[in-house]
Amino acid sequence: MRSMNQNGITSYLLQHNECNPISFHMPGHKGSDLYKRYGYEYFLNHIMDCDITEIDGADNLFQAESIIMNTMNMYKELYQVKKSYLLVNGTSCGLIAAIMSSVKSEGKLIMARNCHKSVFNALTLGNISPVYAYPELIGEFEISGEILPTEIEKLLEENPDAEAVIIPSPNYYGICSDIEGIAEIVHKAGKLLIVDQAHGAHLKFFSRFMECETGLDKEWHSLPRPAEECGADIVVNSIHKTLASFTQSAVMNVVTDKVDLGVLEDKLQTVESTSPSYLLMGSLDINADLIKTNGDHLIKKWRENLMDFYREADKIKGLRIINTGANMDWTKINLNMSQCGISGHELEKLLMEKNIFVELVTGSIVMCMTGIGNVKSDYENLLEALRHISSVNLKSQKLEYKNEKDNFSELIKAIPKQEILHKLPNEKQYVALENAQGYVCASSIIPYPPGIPLICPGEIISKEAIEYVKALRTAGEKVMGINENNQVVVGK
Ligand SMILES: Cc1ncc(COP(=O)(O)O)c(C=O)c1O
Repeated sequence: MRSMNQNGITSYLLQHNECNPISFHMPGHKGSDLYKRYGYEYFLNHIMDCDITEIDGADNLFQAESIIMNTMNMYKELYQVKKSYLLVNGTSCGLIAAIMSSVKSEGKLIMARNCHKSVFNALTLGNISPVYAYPELIGEFEISGEILPTEIEKLLEENPDAEAVIIPSPNYYGICSDIEGIAEIVHKAGKLLIVDQAHGAHLKFFSRFMECETGLDKEWHSLPRPAEECGADIVVNSIHKTLASFTQSAVMNVVTDKVDLGVLEDKLQTVESTSPSYLLMGSLDINADLIKTNGDHLIKKWRENLMDFYREADKIKGLRIINTGANMDWTKINLNMSQCGISGHELEKLLMEKNIFVELVTGSIVMCMTGIGNVKSDYENLLEALRHISSVNLKSQKLEYKNEKDNFSELIKAIPKQEILHKLPNEKQYVALENAQGYVCASSIIPYPPGIPLICPGEIISKEAIEYVKALRTAGEKVMGINENNQVVVGK
């Protein structure tokens, strides 16, 4: 084999793959096995040969008429919506297009403050002003919960000139909002509801499966219903996060007649690559075929594996799993082992030593993101690792680790509300993070993951936020918006 750049991307990827990692992070396919098991190996074997462009016969993403339209129609059928669009720049581009087509320049958008950074990018690109809706803080860990319908109702009354509402559901932890209740309120006010369902592309297929199965205990077996069934106007799904397509591929569903498709399509082609990858689109096609032909079987297995996991995990001493009840998408497993004296970061490290890689750590919580490609042995390995970590650490008589609240959610909640948001500064300067207290932020500061801005342009940088960012960086977390000289961009 040709020797490669030893410190380059490919070497890393191949080395990582060689140690047979167990993935509880994105993407949902979890590697090549799924395609091989279900007969799509041919595509994998010809990956370079399938990497083409818009030759005659290959259709065009931005004027789909034949093969691409066929796949779009498969998604339209699967999600039972008015129209589905394939996206090659992730849910991110779908959210930007949906917002820019629903809100005029200099208009207002009611948005959850815990939206993904792509929503904040849409504000800048579209010259749109936000009105923030704040999520509930829930449980002893005070993680971000749902956005309440009453909060949306109040904001719509206070801001009759707002043109649309956007919220994430499920959020990163898997907590869903009452989309049905929110849709009713939004539509009564004559506005559009956009749902960022990046983390919930699978909900529709759990719901479809549950409708067909008889004799199941619905309380325990159900997941929250997908936004497509609850009255949202536009829903954007990261197929790659939990289902079987390649990273960056997603689907936007238009559900109601309220959406102007011409304007939406124009915005889509302004924010997506003009060379859409046929590999990404091909993998979306395979995912649709897989769901159509084997979806119920795969969802059944996924559900059974999860239920077996939760049943066994319940017996592990010192392990707690966050459960908020009926609004929880429990395909996301939120672990806490503070009773064994272990912080979130320590737990992540201990799991990595056992070859298990997780999606997210915040405070004392580790989130394992399951996907359609996870197999029974993945869950068994996770259980085995947790049992071992529990027995070793309980024996060592370490003191109980003091549960950290999810400071991130707490800080976000404490940020001054809309009326004290400052105008975006025209004149900018770099200031050391250390000395940034009191300045107006001019470029978002974003811990990644989860990719939700902690401080947005127009907000005053607080002492608490600076301390929090410093603590994250000390713990080795990535924080975007701080340069190599530890400076942030602020107004002059
Ligand atoms: C809540 C939320 N929305 C949107 C996105 C963007 O999705 P994508 O990676 O498909 O662009 C993310 C990414 O992690 C996310 O967490």
